[in-house]
Amino acid sequence: MKVSIRNLEKKLSMILPLAESYQRSYNKLSADYKSEQEMALYTKGYFIKKLWKMAEDKQSLVAVLHINDVPKGFIRYSAIPEYYTQPINNLAQDTEKGYLDGFEFAWCRKINFERDIALNNKTLIVNQIYLDPQIQHHGLGTLLFQQTVPELKKQGFESLIIEYNANNVNAKNFYRKLGFEPFAKTKDFDHILKTDGRTQFCISDVHIAHTSIDNTLEHLRRRQQLKQTFVTVLDQRKHGKTY
Ligand SMILES: CC(C)(COP(=O)(O)OP(=O)(O)OC[C@H]1O[C@@H](n2cnc3c(N)ncnc32)[C@H](O)[C@@H]1OP(=O)(O)O)[C@@H](O)C(=O)NCCC(=O)NCCS
Repeated sequence: MKVSIRNLEKKLSMILPLAESYQRSYNKLSADYKSEQEMALYTKGYFIKKLWKMAEDKQSLVAVLHINDVPKGFIRYSAIPEYYTQPINNLAQDTEKGYLDGFEFAWCRKINFERDIALNNKTLIVNQIYLDPQIQHHGLGTLLFQQTVPELKKQGFESLIIEYNANNVNAKNFYRKLGFEPFAKTKDFDHILKTDGRTQFCISDVHIAHTSIDNTLEHLRRRQQLKQTFVTVLDQRKHGKTY
């Protein structure tokens, strides 16, 4: 199996297969806690548009994982929203405005800090990390961090934050193994649905975790060491050496 990591390119031969993996990953994850009606909005076209926009966005960094030259997952980093850096009495807030599902909306997004964490222009947010369900839990998410975080350090970044749905226990455990610790809570305004003439707002609970880049590099180094020790012990057993 050939594993490679490449930049996201604005070409259909990369975006179409990646959108399929993204859709499978997102839908498998969200089906447990989102309504059928909301899930119906997450079409292949929705993910193609999202990836296309990401490929056009020169401010973020996207690394795409390929298995045997087929895109199967990705990680995306961006600058944090400025209001995150200016909490007052442990609360940072800003009004998001725009169009959603055919409605014009305004939403005051509040970040409730549960402990003091200094966020600044050396902090990046991991906006997304998604792997096709077929390849999850084989160390490839960790590999995406291993291959990208040293480059972020070289570029002068010092810390990372990540936001995840409060129900996503696998992601929470995955991030914890990379040194991330939860420090704040917020809510995302995901969709507006019209059901039987009633308007329904889809809002999800989100947790936010933080780590310094050095801490993540140290966690990655320890994981790598553990893996090597395990492989060495297996190898010695295979050759008849026991302890
Ligand atoms: C979260 C994700 C990126 C992790 O990548 P991965 O390659 O699956 O994870 P790794 O194999 O590198 O790391 C494994 C650790 O992550 C957690 N984990 C990941 N997938 C898991 C699963 N299916 N079941 C249980 N634990 C899982 C475990 O803590 C695991 O540690 P363990 O091997 O000691 O049990 C990937 O599983 C994924 O794409 N999930 C769906 C999308 C998602 O939740 N994205 C994050 C949104 S915020």
